[in-house]
Amino acid sequence: MEYYRGKNILITGAFGGFGLCFISQLLDSGASLILCDAPQSAIPIRGRGKSLPVPVSGREKQILSVIWADLSNAEGCNRLYEEYRKLGKGVDIIIHNAGIAFGGEYVDIPPELNEKIINVNLISIMRLNALFLPELIRHRSGHLIYMSSVAGFVATPLAVSYSTSKFGVRSFAMALHGEIRKHGIRTSIVYPFFSKTSILNSQRFGNPQISTLPGFCATSPADVVTCTLKGAKKGRMHICPGFFSKVMWLAVRLHPVISAQRKIQGYSS
Ligand SMILES: NC(=O)c1ccc[n+]([C@@H]2O[C@H](COP(=O)([O-])OP(=O)(O)OC[C@H]3O[C@@H](n4cnc5c(N)ncnc54)[C@H](OP(=O)(O)O)[C@@H]3O)[C@@H](O)[C@H]2O)c1
Repeated sequence: MEYYRGKNILITGAFGGFGLCFISQLLDSGASLILCDAPQSAIPIRGRGKSLPVPVSGREKQILSVIWADLSNAEGCNRLYEEYRKLGKGVDIIIHNAGIAFGGEYVDIPPELNEKIINVNLISIMRLNALFLPELIRHRSGHLIYMSSVAGFVATPLAVSYSTSKFGVRSFAMALHGEIRKHGIRTSIVYPFFSKTSILNSQRFGNPQISTLPGFCATSPADVVTCTLKGAKKGRMHICPGFFSKVMWLAVRLHPVISAQRKIQGYSS
């Protein structure tokens, strides 16, 4: 995809399910990458791209840096920014992709983990944008891509903090866009439905009645990322990758119409 060729792209959560697909598709597109993930992922992956879990052979120069930073706190976000500054390179696109989830009823999930979800999924994005935005504004260009979720527009029981964080990402990105579009900075928000990555195996608390999703409902991470990159290239603000995400997006929009019709037909609301 020509849009990404020669651009410097920062990806958080780079070695997770979506992150790896971003790496491989963006390397194919000729982008240069700054990769960030949590420090615990550093054990099996060392060096500057030499043993990355994606084929980089012959494209090592496209990996500008691998930065290990815990984005659940201010120190980790500052560390990512400081390491980036040391590179002496600019950034054109930031893919805010790092995220965590815990399943279960709100009261069964330890409060510190409910807070950690908000810290990793939302506050880290706010912190990183505060650090990186002045440079994008100065250059009057840039593109911020946010991984929200269908849970960012459908309030989702048994994932209350997760859903709160993803609604937050959506409103933060949209409100901020109102301030930064005049500087030529683009915004894209992505709303994946369930996709086959390790986040689906997140720890559960209590005895939540989460029904198992039929395999065909879960989208492939590679397809989600392809759709994201195509949508962002076209300058789309809201990107619904896959059938179920699109249906849910439409259903939420049609809901008032459907309720009104049900009332007309004599159903109680
Ligand atoms: N898969 C889905 O069904 C789905 C649906 C909608 C939205 N999403 C969103 O898509 C994004 C990517 O998720 P994924 O599905 O690819 O899940 P994933 O495979 O679990 O990847 C998440 C990545 O975020 C990293 N991360 C977690 N905590 C971090 C921290 N404190 N500091 C820095 N990095 C941290 C993880 O590192 P470690 O592995 O080392 O912890 C991992 O590399 C998330 O924002 C998620 O909410 C996913």
